[in-house]
Parts: sequence; structure tokens; C-alpha cells
Amino acid sequence: MNLDLINRLNEITDLQESLLVLSQNFNEKIVFSTSFGIEDQVITQALAFNNIQNIEIFTLDTGRLFPEAYTVWDKTKLQYNTKIKAYYPENEAIENYVNNNGINAFYNSTELRKECCFIRKVAPLNRALQGSKVWITGLRAEQSDNRNQLNKIEWDEQRQLFKFNPLLHWTTQDVVDYLQKNGVPYNTLHDQNYVSIGCAPCTRAIKPNEDFRAGRWWWEDQSKKECGLHQS
Ligand code: ADX
Ligand code: SF4
Repeated sequence: MNLDLINRLNEITDLQESLLVLSQNFNEKIVFSTSFGIEDQVITQALAFNNIQNIEIFTLDTGRLFPEAYTVWDKTKLQYNTKIKAYYPENEAIENYVNNNGINAFYNSTELRKECCFIRKVAPLNRALQGSKVWITGLRAEQSDNRNQLNKIEWDEQRQLFKFNPLLHWTTQDVVDYLQKNGVPYNTLHDQNYVSIGCAPCTRAIKPNEDFRAGRWWWEDQSKKECGLHQS
């Protein structure tokens, strides 16, 4: 990606315009990862509404998602008639993990939790990103102190690709307003104080005044709450 395009993407504040500019000015493989959270639903709608075909949408089905995530996945596919490619954990790795450690072993130690995240999320993500030069995510600055340090477009040295976070400076209210205005389907757990949603056994609703990510891996120290998808 040349500097001119990077600067343009950093400057454009309109989501739809930024996705169109990227898709029309970059010839290598672009992918977008969705977990069907509210941010990802906004991006999916914007891609479908603008009929952007050269950005591949994928999801990582860990096998431990909430039923509500599968419902919104199906609804999204029907409403937008869009392709969402699913990636799954490698069967031998997950069988060995469960047979050796137990089906809910992630509660037993941070090492076992990270190993589960590696098998169910990170290894499939590595496959999904193969050959891609731009990876679009729904990360927002408001979500955590680390994410507050990000740029809209970043070079990911480890993965050797550009990460594009078009909603970086959106507030939660911006996201909710967009969903309502455009009739976008969303995970109904968001109506029950679930804000950041991952796998069912590792996600709970938050209480008033708890921070955005308090419901993820809540039994672990704040400093350990990484699943390995993102550095922040
Ligand atoms: S995580 O690192 O804590 O799991 P988070 O749930 O905040 O991430 O989601 C941030 C972004 O990561 C999403 O907008 C999406 O791009 C990507 N992502 C997270 N989970 C998945 C998933 N299961 N499948 C695909 N993308 C995902
Ligand atoms: Fe496993 Fe929980 Fe990580 Fe999902 S979030 S992959 S269930 S440890």
C-alpha cells in the first residue's frame, strides 16, 4: 500500500467512503474478520450496501459460541445475501486438548485458557489471513487502554500485513445509531448488558460501571486478558 492511500484512509471519516476507496485502490487480497458483534455488523452492512465484492468476509467459529451468535450469523447471511467464510479449529488438535484436559479446562489455568484460544481462534485466524495484505477489523479505541493507542491503519510487523480499523474513533452510541438507522441485525445478547462478546463459557454480561471488557475471561488478571487475535 502506498503512502498516499494510507494517508487517505487515515483522513476519511466516512465509513462507506473509506471501504470504497480501499477496495478500489488496492489490488491485493483484503479480508474482514467478523465475530458478529455490533461493530462487525456495521462493517458487514457497509460492504453489502456498497456491493463491495473484493473484500472477503470470514468468521472463526470456535465451536463454543453463543446460540445468539449463530442466529445473527444466519440472519446476516439471509438479509445481505453475502458470503461469510467459516474457519474451524483443526480436529486433531481440539480432540487432543479436550481428551487430555477436559471440555472446560480453560477455567483451570491461564496456560490452558491460552492454549484453547490458540487452537480455536489463533490457528484458524492464521489460516484465514494467509495471502492477505489488508485485514479489516471492528476494533475501537474506546474498548480498552491498549486499543486507544491504535491507529486507523497500522502495519502489523508480525503478520506482515496492514490492519485497517475503520471504526476506531466511533463511540458505542455511533455504532448503535448506525445499526438502528439501517435496520442491521445484531446479537440480542447486546440487549442484556453483554457488550464485548466472545465464546459463551468465557463471556458474561457486565454490571453498571464495569469496563467494556470486564465480561471477557473475568476470572483472570486484567493483564492476562488476551486471546492472541490482536496484540491489544
Ligand atoms: S478479542 O481479541 O477480544 O477476541 P474482540 O471480541 O474485541 O476481539 O473483537 C475485535 C475484532 O476481532 C472484531 O471486530 C473482529 O474483527 C475480530 N474477531 C474477534 N473474534 C472473532 C471471531 N470469532 N471471528 C472473526 N473475527 C473475530
Ligand atoms: Fe476457548 Fe474460551 Fe478462548 Fe473460546 S474464549 S477459544 S472457549 S478459552
